[in-house]
Amino acid sequence: MDRVLIKDTLNHIGKSITLFGWVNSIRKHGKIAFIDLRDITGIIQMVDIGSKYQNKVGAEYVVKVKGKIKNRPEKLINPKIPTGTIELEIENLEIISPSLVPPFPLDTDGYEINEETRIKYRYLDLRRQRMKNNIILKSRIFTFIRNFLVNRGFYEIETPILTKTTPEGARDFIVPSRLQPGKFYALPQSPQQYKQLLMVAGFEKYFQIARCFRDEDPRHDRAYGEFNQLDMEMSFVTQEDILQISEELFTRLIETIFPEKKIKQKPWPRISHHEAIKNYNTDKPDLRADKKDKNELAFSWTIDFPLFKKQSQDDYFYGSGKAKFAPSHHMFTAPHPDDIKLLDTDPLKVRGLQHDLVLNGYEIGGGSVRIHQLEIQERVFDLIGFTKEQKGQFEHMLNAFKYGVPPHGGIAPGLDRFLFVALGEPSIREVMAYPSLSGGQISVMDAPNYATDSQLKELGIAVVKK
Ligand code: AMO
Repeated sequence: MDRVLIKDTLNHIGKSITLFGWVNSIRKHGKIAFIDLRDITGIIQMVDIGSKYQNKVGAEYVVKVKGKIKNRPEKLINPKIPTGTIELEIENLEIISPSLVPPFPLDTDGYEINEETRIKYRYLDLRRQRMKNNIILKSRIFTFIRNFLVNRGFYEIETPILTKTTPEGARDFIVPSRLQPGKFYALPQSPQQYKQLLMVAGFEKYFQIARCFRDEDPRHDRAYGEFNQLDMEMSFVTQEDILQISEELFTRLIETIFPEKKIKQKPWPRISHHEAIKNYNTDKPDLRADKKDKNELAFSWTIDFPLFKKQSQDDYFYGSGKAKFAPSHHMFTAPHPDDIKLLDTDPLKVRGLQHDLVLNGYEIGGGSVRIHQLEIQERVFDLIGFTKEQKGQFEHMLNAFKYGVPPHGGIAPGLDRFLFVALGEPSIREVMAYPSLSGGQISVMDAPNYATDSQLKELGIAVVKK
């Protein structure tokens, strides 16, 4: 197509070119009007001499414009935009698609607008510069991570979405099976078991930008329904190796994608769980010197967590509420080798090889060295009070552990959470293209929705009104 992108217009001074995009704004001055045009690469001022077009177009119309690129007079230069030294003198403007007046302004940062309305019209909300930047930054982060890890011998491997429950402490989303009526899939809370089985399969270095599903109440730092993790797992590594590669990855990522931001301390401080609670009264301390500075990033590690905590009502999943202990992280985390004896005598004193990645007071990642010995995995299942039936749910893991398991471990930083914290946004939803609302509705689409009678019949399901 004979199209010039707005970012490239500076290379066409003196020439007549064709642009496509959205009308960003119109400023009318009698016989002349300035129409700003926007595409994904930028904004350019266009001059409508004789005001031929100003009353035919409106904000957010999609147009095709032909015109000559000229240098602006010195006193009209706008240093705030990259194309601020030039403008396009319109020769012809063609309307491709008109637009209603948007339900809210798009040229502000949007915080002042009701969130439900923004999310209903997300395709408009995403036109605002701040949102566009956030989504593009996320795309660049994904690309950076893929290149970084592939260059270090990692393989990107996908794992099933229709699967069996992965107990990470939240409620599961379940999906009925048509072929096996009465049975349900669960959507994964994380690919934890699949990635460990990939280590048993011998892939040694795995990653995936993985979709995770958790039915838990949303908060400003916690998405309802789904979010992503940079899920990683490695074989024949120590905890030190996992911390080092994570630290290098995020340090390089910040240098490349957020050059204006400064990491407060390198290497990142490592704080034992005990010290963190004692000194900061939290396991995710905010170590920034100046909490108002948007460009300060204080990363740290919290390590040496206890392997178990006392079981509470929230741990309904484990041991049917009868056992005394629940895992602090998850049931696949390895006990510290020096503390294995304590499993029999004083389980609450056992340290786990868990590591939490903390940024500016938020937990942005969690991981651990895993158990790779059958007898220890069974011992942990017993301590968290698994019944024979519950153990049966993990038979695939216990079986796999009989076939040569490499020592392995990993981590899963949440990328939505990382980006929202790094940008200092007020909510995680500001970095997600289609977040859901607190009631669980999905952006733009009217989901969830009722199933038809015939769908339910085919699945053998009857809906009981509560
Ligand atoms: P964990 O449950 O600690 O570990 O999750 C890891 C990271 O995922 C992010 N996260 C979330 N982000 C947005 N919305 C949510 N609702 C949400 N829940 C979690 C956080 C968190 O630190 N399988 C293990 C990882 C491992 O052991 O390798 C796991 O999922 O940033």
